[in-house]
Amino acid sequence: MVPLALCGGPQVRPRPYAPWPSPSTATRKALIAAHDSGIWWQDGASAAEELEAWLTAEFGHPAVAVSNGTTALELALAALGIGRGDEVLVAATTFLSSATAVSHCGAQPVPVDVTADSLTLDPEAAAVAVTSRTRAVICVHLAGHPADLTGIRQLAERHRLAVVEDAAHALTAAWDGTRIGTVSDATTLSFQAAKLLPGGDGGAVILRDEDTARRVRMQANCGRERGSGTYDHALIGTNARIHPLAAALVMAQTGWYPQAQQTRAHHHQALGDALAKQVEKGLLVGPVPQATVHDHYAVLLRVPGRLAERAITAGTLATALDAEGVPAKPLFPPWQSVPAYRDDDRARSAHTPHAAQAALGTVAVPHHVLLDPHTPEQITAALAKTVAGADDLADWQDQHHNAPGGPA
Ligand SMILES: Cc1ncc(COP(=O)(O)O)c(C=O)c1O
Repeated sequence: MVPLALCGGPQVRPRPYAPWPSPSTATRKALIAAHDSGIWWQDGASAAEELEAWLTAEFGHPAVAVSNGTTALELALAALGIGRGDEVLVAATTFLSSATAVSHCGAQPVPVDVTADSLTLDPEAAAVAVTSRTRAVICVHLAGHPADLTGIRQLAERHRLAVVEDAAHALTAAWDGTRIGTVSDATTLSFQAAKLLPGGDGGAVILRDEDTARRVRMQANCGRERGSGTYDHALIGTNARIHPLAAALVMAQTGWYPQAQQTRAHHHQALGDALAKQVEKGLLVGPVPQATVHDHYAVLLRVPGRLAERAITAGTLATALDAEGVPAKPLFPPWQSVPAYRDDDRARSAHTPHAAQAALGTVAVPHHVLLDPHTPEQITAALAKTVAGADDLADWQDQHHNAPGGPA
């Protein structure tokens, strides 16, 4: 047996992956053009307006480009009138911003469990969490997998809730033929550096109607209409403008997106097939059949049975894969379990077993790895190696379990 790289053996993938974000001639040209235009602020015909026009055409609804995905969520919730005394249901498996945006509006975020097969918000679990104070639901298109928009819309109609889609991990995903961002009250995007369309930082809100979009645009511009007088503050807003240079970077990558998405989907499928043949069936999370389009923001891998039997955690498996040259991290913990929510008894008391299990038993490999043609065979080989080395990995975990900075 070849020793695990974690234990001093050779790596499955010695050559590093191409970096992400991925600087190119196109991004450099776009950046220089935005620079040379002298429009370094969102004022007139900047790249920010160009990005908004592109998003509006993509989703068929008005878009507002903003500073990042976190402020996009905050602005969306504020525009929907969410505030003190309200409760908002939030998928338990997500980056913390989906929940903190609710807290920043003065409302109570309520964790809702995810389904075991897609790790996106479970509409049935959401129905159980509804109270007379519930005003909205935030689903997350986790790792590019569309949430169950049919079930979520039915729930929202039944209880008169607003629907917000956190699409920081997605762009074109579709549930049963319905594209994300086209049927909800608000959808938020992120252009942070790790995302599918990276601008360094940046975000956007897609809204149902032009009036709400105009209000969000004003909120994000210190309460002013764009292009109005310096002191024409009609609302108490904030500064959440996107930087035009970031918008230019995002725009420069939009043309390439469909091809990159196809490549990711192709390699994801090949990986699923190879894992089923050579390691174990069912190791990939999703896509479920209703996920008619998937953006593949990450490869989500379940800890193989032979490792789970030895109580090997996602943290340990991620460390082992990383050592083999495959970048990996354990999946998000349920957001209510992080220290920031330690004093929130309402959130803490929520029972989200699938989200808890997913955090312990799921590893995330970033999307850019799926652009490499060797990925299906190399991730399969790396997983097969960890399964063959289960005893060594279990020993390694035991040794590091209580060590400072260890993965436990
Ligand atoms: C699901 C999700 N929502 C929201 C955000 C926040 O986006 P940003 O980093 O642009 O503020 C992230 C960022 O990583 C995310 O993963």
